Amino acid sequence: MKSYHFDPDHGLAGLTLHEQDEPEPGRGQVVVRVRANSIGYRDLMVLGNRYVLPIRPGVVPGCEGVGEVVAVGEDVRRVRIGDRVAATVFPHWLDGPFRRENAAQLGTMLDGMLTEYALLDEDGVVPVPDHLSDEEAAAFPLAAVTAWNALASGGPLRPGATVLTLGSGAVSLFVLQFAKLAGARVIVTTSGAAKAERLRALGADDVLNYRENPDWDETVRALTGGEGVDRVVDASGPLEKSLKSVAMSGEVAFVGFSLSGDAGAKPVDPSVLFMAGAALHRVATGSRAHFLDMNRAVETHRLRPVIDRVFPFEKLHDAFTYCESGEGLGKIIISHP
Ligand SMILES: NC(=O)c1ccc[n+]([C@@H]2O[C@H](COP(=O)([O-])OP(=O)(O)OC[C@H]3O[C@@H](n4cnc5c(N)ncnc54)[C@H](OP(=O)(O)O)[C@@H]3O)[C@@H](O)[C@H]2O)c1
Repeated sequence: MKSYHFDPDHGLAGLTLHEQDEPEPGRGQVVVRVRANSIGYRDLMVLGNRYVLPIRPGVVPGCEGVGEVVAVGEDVRRVRIGDRVAATVFPHWLDGPFRRENAAQLGTMLDGMLTEYALLDEDGVVPVPDHLSDEEAAAFPLAAVTAWNALASGGPLRPGATVLTLGSGAVSLFVLQFAKLAGARVIVTTSGAAKAERLRALGADDVLNYRENPDWDETVRALTGGEGVDRVVDASGPLEKSLKSVAMSGEVAFVGFSLSGDAGAKPVDPSVLFMAGAALHRVATGSRAHFLDMNRAVETHRLRPVIDRVFPFEKLHDAFTYCESGEGLGKIIISHP
């Protein structure tokens, strides 16, 4: 079988394709013939060796993958041969709060999904909703579970609540889709007119251009009668503007520190934090339980992801080069023969 491996000291050149033997499942493990992956901003950070978690040299990269169970070890009860499954990004995080002991992640500390056959714990896979193709299902494990957790881990999102989501990236698009399912009014920021048009077509109620309108937080206030929004999902920052946009007693789900907290970014003024009077919580993707809850909603509403482009497994380097361009809208998928 073929697997990509990654050496963190060499950027994209450190990503190389190798032949190796197919894995054998041990007790409680399954082997998945991977059919599709997706990649995104997180993988660019891994490639650039600027990710928050340690990267094991030689690791199989990629935390998002979907495929068919082709072998099961002793005592496997959750899945059977032939099941279509998605891997969970943090395979040891089953439920409850995120803890240090659950932080081993696919594609950084543990071998990931950019391989033809993946060896996974049975707890680390979830069934794929029937209405999704393999390529569609591969869009969900990171960005969608993060969006779901960002909306679900605060108080309940009530119909008519206002949600602000920053940027038109993969996480934001799922926030938009999930928040509309919950009956919310959704405001999105973006940098381009074409993307703004697509966001409106996807159901965004208001779209603000953060380049043309650097004081977009003031516009958010104006759009909400001076109150501010009930929820902000901050995947691209700056955090200070999220805090200026949120209503008193609202919530900010802080998802993407790297875009808003790059070296040189202004530290958040403590008085802004205090005056916001809102809850701020950090989101780290989500647990198996989040993934299963999300899948129930995805299945009920037959929700489909926004897919930008599909690249063949052998063209992974091209896919990353395209990903880095930031041109597209939606998930970038890797398809296996
Ligand atoms: N905490 C977690 O568990 C978790 C999980 C997944 C991702 N993340 C993080 O969340 C962030 C977004 O991830 P993603 O996969 O959605 O990324 P993505 O698809 O690459 O989207 C990033 C978006 O951010 C916007 N953006 C880029 N530069 C910006 C800037 N200077 N100011 C404002 N907006 C800017 C862009 O929106 P426009 O093109 O519309 O301008 C871009 O589409 C990343 O930092 C990623 O690491 C965190």
